[in-house]
Amino acid sequence: MKSEQFLGCHSEWNLGSPGGWDYQRMAQVIGRFSWERIKKAAGIDIELDFDHTVLNPLAPFAEMLLRAHKKRFGKEKPFIVLVAEEETLDKVGENIHFIEHINKLPGVEGRLVGPSSLELKDGNVCVEGKKATLIFMDFNNNVLLKMGEKYDIAPLMAAIRNGLVVNPRGMEPIGAKGVFEAITGEYKDLMSETTFKRTPWTRQFYKRRTDGPGGEDIPDLVKWAKDNWQNVILKPVHGYSGKGIIIGFKEADIDKSVKRALDAGDYIIQPLIPTKIWAEEFPWIDKEKGHLFIKRWQTDFRCFVTDRGIIGFVTRFGGIPTNVGCGGGVQPTAILRSRIPVKDAIRILNDAIIGLGYDYISSLQDEIDKLSIEIGNVYLLGPLMSTLRPRLITPLHVKQIKEYGENLWRDAMKLEELWLAGKLSKYTQISDEEAGVAKMAPWRGSIALIAADGLFGFGGSL
Ligand SMILES: Nc1ncnc2c1ncn2[C@@H]1O[C@H](COP(=O)(O)OP(=O)(O)OP(=O)(O)O)[C@@H](O)[C@H]1O
Ligand SMILES: [Mg+2]
Repeated sequence: MKSEQFLGCHSEWNLGSPGGWDYQRMAQVIGRFSWERIKKAAGIDIELDFDHTVLNPLAPFAEMLLRAHKKRFGKEKPFIVLVAEEETLDKVGENIHFIEHINKLPGVEGRLVGPSSLELKDGNVCVEGKKATLIFMDFNNNVLLKMGEKYDIAPLMAAIRNGLVVNPRGMEPIGAKGVFEAITGEYKDLMSETTFKRTPWTRQFYKRRTDGPGGEDIPDLVKWAKDNWQNVILKPVHGYSGKGIIIGFKEADIDKSVKRALDAGDYIIQPLIPTKIWAEEFPWIDKEKGHLFIKRWQTDFRCFVTDRGIIGFVTRFGGIPTNVGCGGGVQPTAILRSRIPVKDAIRILNDAIIGLGYDYISSLQDEIDKLSIEIGNVYLLGPLMSTLRPRLITPLHVKQIKEYGENLWRDAMKLEELWLAGKLSKYTQISDEEAGVAKMAPWRGSIALIAADGLFGFGGSL
């Protein structure tokens, strides 16, 4: 087979509180279930692997936290505390499942609490009198500071300062979307080849002169955005869950959209990563219309990187933006073990599923939905949507992503050094107060989790 590199770029990095580790575990349960049925019913002779560790990031995520615990406390019994916003405690299945997983590990205890449940006792950060040995925070520094208006956050601040919080809060500034301007501009020579190649040209969005994606002179970036409107995207520097994203080709009123971004004052601009690259066709069922057909979906491939390299993926699908909060879902992914091109395997799977007919797939979908609810793969009120076939990647792609991830980790460390030296502040747009929190706990490459969201094509692009 040809050893072609996968296509596409990452749209962002998340170094603050990256999530999604448990949604992929559930997507794999569903994917394995559907595949066993479909493979048997359609008699498909293709070998798919749903069990590779990179497809199950929950366990290595927990292992990463335990390693961080061990580094601080050696053989002391771990008490891992996941701190999430109070109002989400009984709503976010992922957090609940994570603590269930932690509590099943021999000799390990875990708790999910809101920040108001933390207390300081004899200099230790405790929950109900028990010393927390490690904390994972499920929200960003600005949310933390806002919480301070409502609750006593002194215990959590002490935990940050004492190095109990993984990820250290000093990582967050590097995840600001404006940092991509440094990667594709001022500091590009410091970056590895894979990081530079996978980072879309990015500029903070205001009326300015700058150099363009091909190094060309852009005398007025705002005018340039309007002239290239069909192929650009505007995003808030600290956006999340797809919130506030302006997709050029979807917004007819250019002036109004540009004004919205300029008025907000904290937007970046990127070229639209060609949607064909990160789109794939999947069989889809529309029960209201009684229709089984092929549907084009966009995909989003989150790569989790730690000090030990890539530990796993979260693979989403949906529209643009491709976020669960914007109507997307999490899909199963499998490693294609048969030595045929991804494109051929996709065609065989799609044809086979369509060939099984509406009635068969409709009842399979009912079973999938039932299973989803049983395992808690729900978002708000219903089952989280999934695809009837998995996304496919090859062992070679996994190898390529591993190299990409290792480089990304090293480059993020270089960027932190720059930030600590005051050289990135113009790209990060964070308040002095938030910068203060970040400086309380520099990262410097210690054990932690980074997420890079890839708009990637693995041979199934359209
Ligand atoms: N440069 C781009 N080209 C094309 N689409 C993009 C680009 N950047 C973002 N998108 C679309 O917007 C979605 C969200 O982008 P991004 O990850 O940058 O934002 P976010 O709001 O931080 O999302 P989240 O926190 O949920 O991962 C992507 O999945 C993709 O659909
Ligand atoms: Mg993202």
